[in-house]
Amino acid sequence: MGLSKSFLVFFSVLTLAPFCLCYPAGSSRGGYLYPQFYDHSCPKAQEIVRSVVANAVARDARTAASLLRLHFHDCFVKGCDASLLLDSGNGIVSEKLSNPNRNSARGFEVIDEIKSALEQQCPQTVSCADILALAARDSTVLDGGPSWEVPLGRRDSRGASLSGSNNDIPAPNNTLPTIVTKFKRQGLDLVDLVALSGSHTIGLSRCTSFRQRLYNQTGNGLADSTLEASFAAQLRQRCPRSGGDNNLFPLDLATPTRFDNLYFRNIVAGKGLLNSDQVLFTRSAATMELVRLYAENNALFLEQFAKSMVKMGNISPLTGSRGEIRKNCRRLN
Ligand code: HEM
Repeated sequence: MGLSKSFLVFFSVLTLAPFCLCYPAGSSRGGYLYPQFYDHSCPKAQEIVRSVVANAVARDARTAASLLRLHFHDCFVKGCDASLLLDSGNGIVSEKLSNPNRNSARGFEVIDEIKSALEQQCPQTVSCADILALAARDSTVLDGGPSWEVPLGRRDSRGASLSGSNNDIPAPNNTLPTIVTKFKRQGLDLVDLVALSGSHTIGLSRCTSFRQRLYNQTGNGLADSTLEASFAAQLRQRCPRSGGDNNLFPLDLATPTRFDNLYFRNIVAGKGLLNSDQVLFTRSAATMELVRLYAENNALFLEQFAKSMVKMGNISPLTGSRGEIRKNCRRLN
């Protein structure tokens, strides 16, 4: 019995291996996403998402940035499957409790509002994962960024991964090689990394996410030498050595609510807020070249950003009969 079982395992590894190699990590297995997915089943889907997002951003400008980030934090953990949106309970430990998300990820109520509007119009049709992808696009457009057609047809996960959320989402104090590796694992290359980091042209960061740079970057009690001195002094005023963890700072001090390439110009001037922003310029010739290119050419940045967002949105979606269409994005059906 033991022998035949191990033979079976050995045999299936041999026979399945070539097929597994056909699907590189990050590709969609067993189905394709396409922009017209809801054209018949819920023709008003995109209009509904756009209008709820527009109202939410009108109430609170930061919401555009927060919604864009939710799609990223969803896609990097088990693929774009809305695993991020599940609350704890019934065997789920929510990804909202992870280091990158706790006291930081926001915009969940807006996703709820979109979902309930969609459930009224076309019950159990539009997935929470697709809502995140559409809301990220609409938020970018509202802040003056590029538009793109969003491939659709993702389904929602039946689980969440707290450890995936802690380990797979890059941290602001990760080294550049670690960040590059975390992107590569998702099928995203250096061009995608630099372009998508351009999201930090909008939104806010807490003091705790960059404090180390201001006081003790390498353990020698000194500020990060790649951080421009007057900018560092300015930041220290509201981000003290201890306390003030949740004080907020624009990621792009030049144009905090405008989706443009000034984020890259800041970096060239030593005024990237996060360590993970500044290392794109200081730790590799290849990424430095890309930062310079986007700093000089806004149109090129916007074009590449749109392409990289589509690529990110294609990370391991659940399609066909896998997963489910949640009725409430916070809970399994
Ligand atoms: C390259 C690796 C990345 C790292 C290390 C990183 C890290 C961070 C950190 C630490 C914050 C501030 C969080 C806080 O203090 O509460 C932040 C905010 C933000 N991130 Fe990233 N991020 C990365 C890539 C991305 C990508 C790929 C996107 C989108 C495609 C994105 C979109 C945003 C946005 C829009 C905000 C502002 C959110 C808000 O104001 O609510 N980030 N990020």
